[in-house]
Amino acid sequence: MSAGHHTGSHATNPRVDGRSSATRRWLTRLACCLVASVVPQMASAQSPERSGQDVVQAVCAACHRTGVNGAPKIGDQKAWAKIASQGLTSLTDAALKGVRKMPPHGGNLGLSDMEIARAITYMVNESGGHWIEPISKFALPSQRSGAQVVQAHCAKCHETGVDGAPKIGDRAAWIPRLRQGFEPVVRSAIQGHGAMPSRGDVADTTDSEIRAAIIYMIDGS
Ligand code: HEC
Ligand code: HEC
Repeated sequence: MSAGHHTGSHATNPRVDGRSSATRRWLTRLACCLVASVVPQMASAQSPERSGQDVVQAVCAACHRTGVNGAPKIGDQKAWAKIASQGLTSLTDAALKGVRKMPPHGGNLGLSDMEIARAITYMVNESGGHWIEPISKFALPSQRSGAQVVQAHCAKCHETGVDGAPKIGDRAAWIPRLRQGFEPVVRSAIQGHGAMPSRGDVADTTDSEIRAAIIYMIDGS
């Protein structure tokens, strides 16, 4: 936060220094945004996602620090260089689905694919890599569209409303389900809900694809 201290003095009075007060106003606005982003209502449409470092410390490090069951160790440049060669998209898919002794989502279904992608990027970078941590879901490499996923996997129940599945484009059926916000509905589709199977019974759909599929079904177009 040294932007305003171009004189090098910490005693600079921000009131007489135009740049400092502008910086302060900007910081105040930023603080407001940060506060707003942790208020659950605000977060429902676009929940704040954790950094790669946070996710790794909370979830992945348990195995990837110790190397338990053959988990590639953070810092093992040789192992991670080989893994990194698969590319972030396929690694994210692999981590979402699980690979042999690596559990789906690293064992935490609450993690979004963005958080998984960031965690992988962090581990790659801690092991000699130079990847840029994705900042938004739009930065994730391309995948199937909502329409494609729905036609292939969801329509068989959601077209006609099998077992009470909310129908595609039937806003009256969807709106009450969105009362708690969009993300809980996404989680519910990922985890399964009543007669709705987890991920619509297609293990290889990513969270982003599920999200896109749901948006498509609500919109009906
Ligand atoms: C319960 C232990 C465990 C946890 C927790 C765990 N992993 Fe793993 N992970 C493994 C093991 C074991 C492997 C090696 C799997 C293999 O290749 O047989 C692995 C492999 C991987 C790979 C390489 C996959 C490949 O295709 O070679 C990635 C990427 C990965 N983990 C990401 C993560 C991320 C991200 C997290 C945290 C969100 C995480 N893991 C949490 C055990 C774990
Ligand atoms: C085997 C039939 C079946 C398939 C396939 C299926 N669904 Fe569903 N889905 C249901 C049923 C039944 C419900 C209503 C469950 C309930 O709320 O009791 C439902 C509910 C939902 C809900 C609302 C969840 C909530 O909490 O209100 C979402 C979102 C959803 N499905 C998404 C999907 C997506 C995305 C796919 C495709 C990837 C899919 N479904 C595939 C049967 C299915």
